[in-house]
Amino acid sequence: MCGIICYLGDRPSLPILLNGLRRLEYRGYDSSGVAVAVNEKIHCRKAVGKISDLAGLLGDKPWTGWGGIAHTRWATHGVPSPENAHPHGDCRDRIFVVHNGIIENYRQLREELRDKGHRFRSSTDSEVLAHLIEEYYRGDLEDAVNSALQRVDGTYGIGVISAGNPSQIVVARLGSPLILGIRDREIFAASDAAALMSHTREVAYLHDGEVALLKPGSYRIRTLSGMPMNRSVQTLDWDMSSAEKRGYPHFMLKEVHEQPEVVGEAIRGRLIEAEGLAKLGGVERVWSRLRNMRRLIILACGTSYYAGLLGRYVIESCTNYPVDVDLASEFQYRKLNLQARTAVLAISQSGETADILAVVREVKRRGALSLGLVNVVGSTVARLTDAGIYNHAGPEISVASTKVFVSQIAILYLVGLLLGRHQQMSLSEGQEFVHELRALPGRMRSMLARAPAIEEIARRYARHRNLLYLGRRFSYPVAMEGALKMKEVSYLHAEGYAAGEMKHGPLALVDESFPTVCLAPRDSVYRKMIGNIQEIKSRKGPVIAVGTEGDTHLAELADDLIEIPQCGEMFTPFLSVIALQLLAYYVARERGCDIDRPRNLAKSVTVQ
Ligand code: F6R
Repeated sequence: MCGIICYLGDRPSLPILLNGLRRLEYRGYDSSGVAVAVNEKIHCRKAVGKISDLAGLLGDKPWTGWGGIAHTRWATHGVPSPENAHPHGDCRDRIFVVHNGIIENYRQLREELRDKGHRFRSSTDSEVLAHLIEEYYRGDLEDAVNSALQRVDGTYGIGVISAGNPSQIVVARLGSPLILGIRDREIFAASDAAALMSHTREVAYLHDGEVALLKPGSYRIRTLSGMPMNRSVQTLDWDMSSAEKRGYPHFMLKEVHEQPEVVGEAIRGRLIEAEGLAKLGGVERVWSRLRNMRRLIILACGTSYYAGLLGRYVIESCTNYPVDVDLASEFQYRKLNLQARTAVLAISQSGETADILAVVREVKRRGALSLGLVNVVGSTVARLTDAGIYNHAGPEISVASTKVFVSQIAILYLVGLLLGRHQQMSLSEGQEFVHELRALPGRMRSMLARAPAIEEIARRYARHRNLLYLGRRFSYPVAMEGALKMKEVSYLHAEGYAAGEMKHGPLALVDESFPTVCLAPRDSVYRKMIGNIQEIKSRKGPVIAVGTEGDTHLAELADDLIEIPQCGEMFTPFLSVIALQLLAYYVARERGCDIDRPRNLAKSVTVQ
């Protein structure tokens, strides 16, 4: 969602801040701004639109200040406009603030500050922070920020700069991530490691309820109650090439093509071939609680939810554990008995999704075992949960998730194997499972080699207005995910459905202008899927089938066929999802959409 980058050091700050904003673009934004301290004055510019619009405003005479703060905004309170963009200044333009999160009591604070004579220029909740800090400022910025934050209800990640203390920046967080980056005589702070990676891999994570005073090359962290905190520096293992397109026209296409390596990375060191076992170091600490659980609940949003849905079919196939999957946003309304023998697995690429954080906190409060499956190392979900597993998929830049989805499902398969082998799964079944997992990267590469054929099909369907996606059993979550991908990047209306539900409603939509994507690999539900396809064809509906290579019957029935390589029934989703990701990508490209940054969407949804 919104992004923050702050810099203090011995280089001119403006190019570093603009470059940092470009690295944050992928998160989704509608306006941006930058404030730089120059000779005890703060210069600020803000623009609606792209970072290039902001850079254009700044012209070719950059300010030469050594410290500054910058922000990409995704509108929540108030329309996208220069006034509503961050940084927000106080009445005298001496203090500027960038803010991610929501100030819940901003109306009340604004009224109080107005009564004291403060003049507001925006309709945002964030602007109150600048005025509140101004109200408490007596020459010490850190003290003023600290006092102001005591008055705030809500969530924040903030960066604050003042004309009175130009060689300091104060940052703070509560429920919205902030990472410090350290390099020689320089210090950075950002909401996302992607903005730091080109400068430094040495990072320190700020925790909730902490305020940090940054000076060139150093930082000091204290809690809101003033207690000093020691925070060790960690080295990020993400490499820069993940944040570059490396010749691909879009990050989405690059990330789709990275999937064989991402699955390889997810299973690396986690399989014991001879024993047909999986080994997940991250859950060893809680192994006896996990093994003795009565029920597993998987919670997630969006694409991560569809990964969880597939995880349920896989874990239930491998074990006797009952598995529930719920949307994190709906879970809070359910009345469930969450005792110690329930385990909850939160799946989140970013580890910062607000709905996930809310349910993880609730689950912990109720005493259930909380586990995380997270891509972003050091993220809030990773820190809040009792134990967890990292994806190691590297940064995902495209807003539409692709490579992290396959990484999530690969790890859920490992969870199925791990738990299954401690129950009824036999040695030979375990070995076969390991064999199938190991074969995936190669099969996924052959799938990717079929991209030109999928591109051709996409061209023929790009002008339709609607698409239905159908699948059964392991292919049902893939159909849901395929439809979501199509909606997000191409803005076509696409619905995913369990194929068995077709006759209960959606069949009414089918005619010659309404195509259906049918997932029909040769598996235990193949005959039923063929029945669905015949019903669609007898109503003249065009069918794009995704089926096993060499399936001549399906080739005759369908209007278009995307073939996937032969593999075990449970493992087809790794291949069929590639077909659907590429279909969505090429349709979106044909329609001229902004593929990596779909309108209205943000990479990390940090508000409920
Ligand atoms: C879709 C997509 C979103 C996310 C969802 C959850 O392509 O990326 O649906 O999956 O916002 O995000 P995380 O996994 O970060 O919690």
